[in-house]
Amino acid sequence: MLCGVLNSIMGSQLLSKKGLRYTMEAIVAVYEDWGIGCCGTQPVALSVDRKFFREMTRGAMVIVGRRTVADFPGQKPLPGRVNVVLTRQGKEIPGFTVCGSPEEAVELAKTAQKAMVIGGGSIYRQMLPFCDSALVTKVYCNPGSDTYFPNLDEDPAWELAEILQSGEENGIRYEMCRYARK
Ligand SMILES: NC(=O)c1ccc[n+]([C@@H]2O[C@H](COP(=O)([O-])OP(=O)(O)OC[C@H]3O[C@@H](n4cnc5c(N)ncnc54)[C@H](OP(=O)(O)O)[C@@H]3O)[C@@H](O)[C@H]2O)c1
Repeated sequence: MLCGVLNSIMGSQLLSKKGLRYTMEAIVAVYEDWGIGCCGTQPVALSVDRKFFREMTRGAMVIVGRRTVADFPGQKPLPGRVNVVLTRQGKEIPGFTVCGSPEEAVELAKTAQKAMVIGGGSIYRQMLPFCDSALVTKVYCNPGSDTYFPNLDEDPAWELAEILQSGEENGIRYEMCRYARK
């Protein structure tokens, strides 16, 4: 209760039950095996999930890995969002704020009303410890992935908080779920 009140007062600087501050939420689409991509792209992408992603991230600071940016249309930043890219190359990327480490991205996220981790695999892995919520679209098919998101159903630190939306597109069932850190 107190935690919830503090969260709403503190906005983006969330306070966990253990008193730790988190500032971020992850958003991801996973297949049945928690795979998220293959050969640098998503083998199956549902338009309903793209719409969900656009709605959830609108106006937010989005934190993304350099390889995932390579899969953005025209490799351009997502419009209407503050785009932060993680890269070790130290090069400017037009339209993006460049960060050289997850810690740097966490510091930057504290300045945002809403900060969201949008992938890919290596960025989810490194930034998830700083997130206390994850929007997970479960796409019920198994196209074969080479990149994975941590299986939150098997992680005792996380629990399924709510199912926000569900349905079927082109014969593929989907569920948009919110997971919360316990
Ligand atoms: N299903 C989904 O919702 C979803 C969402 C996003 C992405 N994806 C998929 O995920 C896959 C890409 O994931 P990925 O793991 O290969 O790549 P990625 O996480 O998108 O990007 C990796 C790059 O991020 C930079 N990086 C990683 N750790 C860093 C650190 N500690 N400090 C600074 N920079 C760091 C490095 O860039 P440099 O090489 O420039 O140094 C690294 O090569 C694709 O298949 C994509 O389609 C799926």
